[in-house]
Amino acid sequence: MGKAKRNRKRGAKGEEPPKKDTKRLAIIAVAVMAVLVAAAAALRWPSTASRGLVDVTVPASLSAQARSGQRAFDANCARCHGENGGGTDQGPPLVHDIYNPGHHADAAFYLAAQRGVFAHHWSFGDMPPQPNVTRKELDGIVRYVRELQQANGITWKPHRM
Ligand code: HEC
Repeated sequence: MGKAKRNRKRGAKGEEPPKKDTKRLAIIAVAVMAVLVAAAAALRWPSTASRGLVDVTVPASLSAQARSGQRAFDANCARCHGENGGGTDQGPPLVHDIYNPGHHADAAFYLAAQRGVFAHHWSFGDMPPQPNVTRKELDGIVRYVRELQQANGITWKPHRM
């Protein structure tokens, strides 16, 4: 009899560990959730409008042509394409693999300014033509964007459709 009682007691105790496990699981779940929330916040951070859509690494130095291109870019393109070509809620980042020279050659920049662009890669809407920008300014803008791209590891890649 005594033996049976002890067994029953042990049996009752034996049901406790699962309760502890539940508690531990709950703690782990809370910890995992905290990490996920932190990660989501970190991912959202670079996409705020003031910081541009992508984080652009600015090269330590720009060529003279790129520096003059930067001035023309800031005056005519940055309100949509963002400071350093990082994008805004009005236009895409040009420092983006889509615009690597194998997919969008330099000619795409001259055409974009001359004719505008129908929205086809993104959902920002159409780009209006930029008739005030001269060919010489565009030479500089292209140089500027290419130097920014290079500093961010975006180089020529064959275009596959
Ligand atoms: C009013 C906003 C706006 C301005 C100003 C603007 N762009 Fe754009 N641009 C866009 C949008 C939006 C797109 C993306 C269209 C798409 O593919 O969905 C675009 C696309 C482009 C493309 C890609 C063209 C292609 O063939 O896909 C280039 C290159 C470009 N812009 C260069 C420029 C340059 C250089 C300037 C300044 C001279 C400029 N943009 C000014 C909004 C703008």
